[in-house]
Amino acid sequence: MQKFLTALIVLAASPAMSQDASGEVEFNNHCRTCHSVEEGDNRMGPTLHAVIDRKAGSVPGYGYSDAMAGSDVVWDAETLDAFIEAPDAVVPGNAMKPYSEITDPKVRELIVSYLSETEV
Ligand code: HEC
Repeated sequence: MQKFLTALIVLAASPAMSQDASGEVEFNNHCRTCHSVEEGDNRMGPTLHAVIDRKAGSVPGYGYSDAMAGSDVVWDAETLDAFIEAPDAVVPGNAMKPYSEITDPKVRELIVSYLSETEV
């Protein structure tokens, strides 16, 4: 059993997998430490449930930075893509840290499309 579990973990962590990984896998790799997609589930970061068309800094009960709360950005495919590439370029002074910028456009696209599906 131990051996089986170890094999599973090695498989899940293998970089080769992220090549054709689904948006959910990429989300889990890059965002899930701090974000949930469940409604009302604020963790270290605010819930990303139904984030498309949401004004930045507007989830009730989450303690945003002044930068995020005061931002006029509305999250859509374009602003989300830009934000996860370089958060400070979109909302200067935001508190989403530590964060590693996602330079691969394909990975960003997968994550944004995964987030669009949480809207139902
Ligand atoms: C280290 C923890 C961490 C990671 C990793 C992280 N975030 Fe965040 N995120 C935060 C925090 C904290 C905030 C609130 C920032 C603020 O108030 O300035 C935030 C805010 C956001 C917001 C703004 C939400 C709103 O309600 O306006 C979006 C969108 C977002 N994150 C998307 C992502 C995505 C997509 C990923 C993965 C690619 C990601 N984050 C990875 C911690 C994180």
